[in-house]
Amino acid sequence: MKYKHDFANHLYKELEGKLDKKEIINLIEKPKHAQMGDMAFPCFELAKLLRKSPQLIASDIACDIESSLFEKIEAVGGYVNVFLNKQKVSSEIIKEIIKKQHHYGDLNLGNNGVVTIDFSSPNIAKPFSMGHLRSTVIGNALAHITEKCGYRVVRINHLGDWGTQFGKLITAYKKWGNEEEVKQNPIKTLLAYYVKFHDEAEKDSELENEGRYWFKKLEDGDQEAVKLWKWFRDESLKEFSRIYTLLNISFDSYHGEAFYNDKMDRIVQILEGKNLLVESDSAQVVPLENEDLPPCLIKKSDGATLYATRDLAAALYRQETYHFTKSLYVVGNEQSLHFKQVFTVLEKMGYKWASGMTHIAFGMMLKEGKKMSTRKGKVVLLEEVLEEAISLACQTIEEKNPSLQNKNEVAAQVGVGAVMFHDLKNYRMNDIEFSLEDMLKFDGETGPYVQYTHARACSLLRKGEFKLSNHDFVIDDDQSWPVVTMLREFPDVIERAVEKYDPSQIAKYVVDLSQAFNKYYGNVRILEEDGQKEARLAVVYTVMVVLKEGLRLLGISAPEEM
Ligand code: ARG
Repeated sequence: MKYKHDFANHLYKELEGKLDKKEIINLIEKPKHAQMGDMAFPCFELAKLLRKSPQLIASDIACDIESSLFEKIEAVGGYVNVFLNKQKVSSEIIKEIIKKQHHYGDLNLGNNGVVTIDFSSPNIAKPFSMGHLRSTVIGNALAHITEKCGYRVVRINHLGDWGTQFGKLITAYKKWGNEEEVKQNPIKTLLAYYVKFHDEAEKDSELENEGRYWFKKLEDGDQEAVKLWKWFRDESLKEFSRIYTLLNISFDSYHGEAFYNDKMDRIVQILEGKNLLVESDSAQVVPLENEDLPPCLIKKSDGATLYATRDLAAALYRQETYHFTKSLYVVGNEQSLHFKQVFTVLEKMGYKWASGMTHIAFGMMLKEGKKMSTRKGKVVLLEEVLEEAISLACQTIEEKNPSLQNKNEVAAQVGVGAVMFHDLKNYRMNDIEFSLEDMLKFDGETGPYVQYTHARACSLLRKGEFKLSNHDFVIDDDQSWPVVTMLREFPDVIERAVEKYDPSQIAKYVVDLSQAFNKYYGNVRILEEDGQKEARLAVVYTVMVVLKEGLRLLGISAPEEM
């Protein structure tokens, strides 16, 4: 927190080395109520050390500190409460934001180190599920947030483009497939073949063998199998990229599971060389009982490799290619055992960098309290959801602002932003209830509410003809203080968000800043020509900058009019 250090310095001097500066900083709190000041220092720990009552210590300290930074210092119930000098602090913060613009809140925690983020990673020939949407939205936000904190980010889409299911799919296609049908509607059609395969396999067990046979052929590079697989992959990617375009998300790498096919022998060799591999039921596994985990399956009895084998190869490849300091995997909660196993095997292999790997888990998307599943025909097609959100946003805009110029563009920004915000405002581990209606409300804790507040600020700046060149203002109204207090907190919020890999910190923050700003807007006449107009507009301007930057970190656009 800005000014925390100033307060800590004063306390340090007063306490004559009884506590070191870091301890003091850790003790300083934000009071629960604004009437109790802007920062508070509790004296209870000192009481034991000094054998004096906390009340007495607090009032001694409060009497002695003198600084133009503080308007008032009080000792209340064992706390030293300080009130910042509003005029001075407001002017400083506002000027800092005007100077730094969207770089306000940039932190250098990463020292330019590389973070790889594995996110989205949908499965070929399957619909883009709600789980993949969550991974996409959370991963994208974390990419922006870590970048803001001084890391170099590599965005990786680890496509699920390999595995026994492709043997089944090829079998199904050869039996019942139709080229035209696939071309017209690739994912829906391929999914239908896959579902049919499972239905038929229940009656005819020979089908499973055929599926295994074709996967083996695929692994051995059989021309026909590879050609079909490539085609399924290309068609699926076309559909996925439409979604990424809508969401305004891009990747640095699309190396999926198949990319690691020729890199797994090496993994098996290293594991053998380190005596980590054991035969169990004619499969090759790494036993992990000492770590209280089930064994990690590396190779099946027929020689086929597995999901985990590919993840081991991918981890090694990423370290050798990008030299990451951190490597994040944004994948649903249900895969937490898989990642524990993979990370543990890497540690057993002796790779120190494995300590930089983290599974960023998240909960489920529910509809009426139940998991939204792609199986049993209950397919919720993401593209349809996004399109519906956009058309609902369009309706609202039509009602509220029918003369808006670029209506369709804004409707897309609002509709898509609403879906993303609804996800990101919840702590990622929580399950979330899917409700288009809730997402698209223009009031309450929604994306459109924050976007609308930003647009309101833009409109005030236009009407007031605000000029950035004018730096000659003094912020001198009590009404703006809650807004300035929020603006002051932005860098801390970013730090918390990156430490906990938690974009909801930022989502909640932009809602709170919007609320503080809308209250300010309701209480003062911003455009009144009373000599304070420029100062008020400067507050409006900085709110606009910070809301826009906050939304950008979440991956959401901020239209200037809506
Ligand atoms: N394709 C997988 C799935 O849909 C997710 C992949 C996550 N990334 C990874 N490196 N395992 O379940």
